[in-house]
Amino acid sequence: MYKIFDTVEAVSRYTAQRVLDKIKSNPTAVLGLATGSTMEPVYEQLLQYLQQAPVDLSQLTSFNLDEYIGLSAAHAQSYNYFMHQHLFSHLSMPECNIHLPDGLANNCENACEAYSEAIKAAGGLDLQLLGVGTNGHIGFNEPQTCFDSRTHVVELSEQTRLDNGRFFDDQAEVPTHAITMGIQDILEAKEIILVATGAHKAQIIADLYHSEMDEALPASALKQHPNLTIVLDKAAASLLPENA
Ligand code: F6R
Repeated sequence: MYKIFDTVEAVSRYTAQRVLDKIKSNPTAVLGLATGSTMEPVYEQLLQYLQQAPVDLSQLTSFNLDEYIGLSAAHAQSYNYFMHQHLFSHLSMPECNIHLPDGLANNCENACEAYSEAIKAAGGLDLQLLGVGTNGHIGFNEPQTCFDSRTHVVELSEQTRLDNGRFFDDQAEVPTHAITMGIQDILEAKEIILVATGAHKAQIIADLYHSEMDEALPASALKQHPNLTIVLDKAAASLLPENA
């Protein structure tokens, strides 16, 4: 279940190759995608592979995990903007196959319900990419989120707002709420790859390794998944036992 590599580059090559293999073996695959610093080199590597050997992406579908409430797709810190900047604007994937929660929805509850339904209608997620927060969140499912949750509105924890403040000019600009796919939506993916890199992730990765399934640590929900790979660099794995 654990794949540990020396460098971030090696982590990114392995992860991007897994995504590419999925797309090649199933051109109509439905991908669950994440944003964040961990994913930037993964998407960069995936783009390199696709440039070297183009693959037909016309039938590929994607659903992103989450989006801030109150930020438009054009806002430089929105996840919609991130995904277009780092991936979609470089791909020949039809825009109508790309899905992110709508941070400006008039009725967020309806939008959330429709998002989980749209994932189901697409046939479910074939491969879900995940990062992990330093507090163990996956998507924006913060500690104490029910494991049977569907797409929902969350109030972001102070820890998450502090962590993500690095992308904003001013900490006060970090939105207080977001829409996230629920843990149950994530668990229904046929395959899950969780990626963590850097020494700042070492403690939460060790906590995850030692934890039982516990809603205080959202990523621990993944322990019940039959097809989970946790991909780490040496720094993120540094507090794991030798035999992990
Ligand atoms: C982002 C997301 C988050 C991040 C997590 C790690 O779409 O769902 O759960 O994966 O906050 O973020 P980074 O990679 O920036 O450390």
